[in-house]
Amino acid sequence: MSANNNVNFSVAPGGTLQGSLRVPGDKSISHRSIMLGSLADGVTEVSGFLQGEDNLATLNAFRAMGVSIDGPDDGKVIIQGVGMDGLKAPAAPLELGNSGTSMRLLSGLLSAQAFDSVLTGDASLSTRPMRRVTEPLMQMGAEVETTVAGTPPLKCHGGRALKGFDYAMPVASAQVKSCLLLAGLYAIGKTCVIEPAPTRDHTERMLQGFGYPVEVDGNRICVEGGGSLTATNIDIPADISSAAFFLVGASICPGADLLLEHVGINPTRDGVISILKLMGADIQLLNSRQIGGEPVADIRVRYAPLKGIIIPEAQVPLAIDEFPALFIAAACAEGETTLSGARELRVKESDRIQVMADGLQTLGVNALPTEEGMVIQGGKKIAGGRVRSHGDHRIAMSFAMASLRASAPIEIEGCANVNTSFPDFVALAAGVGLNIKQVST
Ligand code: S3P
Repeated sequence: MSANNNVNFSVAPGGTLQGSLRVPGDKSISHRSIMLGSLADGVTEVSGFLQGEDNLATLNAFRAMGVSIDGPDDGKVIIQGVGMDGLKAPAAPLELGNSGTSMRLLSGLLSAQAFDSVLTGDASLSTRPMRRVTEPLMQMGAEVETTVAGTPPLKCHGGRALKGFDYAMPVASAQVKSCLLLAGLYAIGKTCVIEPAPTRDHTERMLQGFGYPVEVDGNRICVEGGGSLTATNIDIPADISSAAFFLVGASICPGADLLLEHVGINPTRDGVISILKLMGADIQLLNSRQIGGEPVADIRVRYAPLKGIIIPEAQVPLAIDEFPALFIAAACAEGETTLSGARELRVKESDRIQVMADGLQTLGVNALPTEEGMVIQGGKKIAGGRVRSHGDHRIAMSFAMASLRASAPIEIEGCANVNTSFPDFVALAAGVGLNIKQVST
């Protein structure tokens, strides 16, 4: 959580979403660009880097391990790669703020180094489950400690020889997969991760972009240890998870017509588009193209009356970060929307099932949380009121979009962490017509 979580959003009815905008760079790809660029031989130039707090935590961690990194400057970052064995022991614990991706991916990488390291996080990250990474890492021969509750800080003991293995992941998690593949780069033999369902594949794509062979056979992804990475240039597309707030906002707002430019539409990330289309949304992908190994398009979204649906469980990992926004769409859709098979939402930056249900109920929406999802009766007017984001960036931005259908202003408490993933949210959203103000408390 940001040191000082004293920013609220005040959003008033009567806004719209019109025109065009480019949301900031993809958070997942930005993290990976720093990690692989640092371990590569040669100089990697990154453009479109997300200058959010989470990615800066990753960048600072690599600086603390001796990597020289210029920027970020208007999304440009230049990384002087140190090679696979060039990282140096950090002088102090690596402070990763709110960023689960930084902690889980780094745990794999750092368990394979010659030196010891400690990974810490803010109050929210310090409650998140880490055994999902430490247990398989220990099966590889790593020594990583958590608290007795299985939470951070993580202590990674260096100098352990890791062995490749086959691991069937119990949860569909790109963070666990990526952690193990990064450890696997250093392991003796082959490391194979078997996914219960497809999850975002940016690590696999980017490893190949850096010239590291990755074997993908259906849901089994393998790397052979002992290779090297060759520096490359990376052009990061806009983050579909940030575009999602606007996809929902424009879909629920009569008269809205918005063009979202240069958005990553990787098929392991596009669940929000599929789900909104099933609800009846008017979304068109224009000018589809490949940029640096990732599919990208401009997305036009116009208002359309939405209807409630049963969300297909196969879409859950493909839209895992977008459910707070999708719950707002469901609140505006005619009829009932049911989400199930999404227990993971309870262990994100907040318990996104409980926190969204609480906020929706405050706004007069019939939202029933279940163990693994939510049932929402949509289509009634949304009231105004005061909701809490619980320091979760995506909760804050989702409730901001609810104002487009609300009958009175919505005050959202504790929005400083929007800076973790979308630093210019208020200015960009206001620029396309949302009635949003940031209020210091
Ligand atoms: C991410 C994976 C997802 C996602 C997170 C980013 C990544 O987490 O929720 O925001 O970059 O690998 P899980 O792997 O825990 O589902």
